[in-house]
Amino acid sequence: MYVRLRSVKTVEMGDPTPPMGRSHHTAVEYDLCAMHARTGTDVRAAAELLRAGDVVAIPTETVYGLAADAFNAEAVLKIFTTKQRPSFDPLIVHIGRMDDVARLAKELPPGAQGLMEAFWPGPLTLVLPKRPEVPDIVTSGLDTVGVRMPAHPMALALLNQLEFPLAAPSANPFGYVSPTTAQHVADQLGDRIPYILDGGACNVGVESTIIGWETGGWKLYRPGGVPVEAIESILGRTVFAPLSFGEEQGVRAKAPGMLESHYAPRKPVHVGSIDALLPAHNGKRIGVISFSTPYPVYRCEVLSPAGDLDQAAQKLFAALRALDVSDCDIILAERFPDEGLGRAISDRLKRAAVKR
Ligand code: TXA
Ligand code: MG
Repeated sequence: MYVRLRSVKTVEMGDPTPPMGRSHHTAVEYDLCAMHARTGTDVRAAAELLRAGDVVAIPTETVYGLAADAFNAEAVLKIFTTKQRPSFDPLIVHIGRMDDVARLAKELPPGAQGLMEAFWPGPLTLVLPKRPEVPDIVTSGLDTVGVRMPAHPMALALLNQLEFPLAAPSANPFGYVSPTTAQHVADQLGDRIPYILDGGACNVGVESTIIGWETGGWKLYRPGGVPVEAIESILGRTVFAPLSFGEEQGVRAKAPGMLESHYAPRKPVHVGSIDALLPAHNGKRIGVISFSTPYPVYRCEVLSPAGDLDQAAQKLFAALRALDVSDCDIILAERFPDEGLGRAISDRLKRAAVKR
């Protein structure tokens, strides 16, 4: 099914007299049209669809994104309806030229320029104070906007043909594992979008690292494709997670969506030492995600026989999908080293293991 927007209206509700006051709600009407996505390498066709206000799945070096014109609120709304993504979860905006950051951000906090020069194009998202021109739907009403320049030749070719930046979350239904091939996108969103730009398998394999400037310094909102150690060496100081990172109660998440069960297969996932977990699951068909050791279980996905964390990250989501569609009853995942891309891998596995 493909979602076509019919109208968006702002509706006033509530009692006009104080103390209640009126509140504004967005009413959306859309049509569901049967269709199947074309998959191809036609950057120009993708650009035409995006100019017409449609959504297109695009490759990046991290994961595939579901893109729309970041300055067209109606087009961006289609991203939310297609993914069934809650409106409180803001999108990352992708640019193809360094200068374009000035169209989105009001100013650059200390150190931002150096980080852009060191890591763009690449898997680092900077959360920056936003310009008023960026539609609220992109940022879920926050006064900041997440920006990155993807390091994928096809994504850059597309962005540099367009007159506007692209808002794009990962191209998966909300809460599911992110796609790292065009086929993954087709499997889940193929009946809802018109075109998938096929740029091959993503070579980073986990989403971008997200950092944001808060009084006193940069904070880590999500570990990802750029190791935090590399960011710290450019900034010359430690980058901490904000208070709201993790499970602390009562603190609003800086990156909404961060505390939720995310990246989750449908099968139950447990993380820990495989040898310690196995006895509790006797008699089940067990699927294992391991770093480099093969385990004698029903099905074992070894992410990197050579013990290389970058290679493990590249294969992580495809392995989770493979076990999820297999006839395993349960997925057991090893712990990964707390360094380099190991932190992003552990973060995604931890979220995959959260019960929904
Ligand atoms: O690698 C990636 O980052 C991929 C590719 C497609 O670029 N995109 C991606 O987008 O992972 P998504 O929507 O799955 O994750 C975006 C997350 C949000 O859930 C939120 O946590 C954070 O980025 N985010 C975006 N804008 C933010 C803002 N203004 N403040 C805080 N967090 C923000
Ligand atoms: Mg996502």
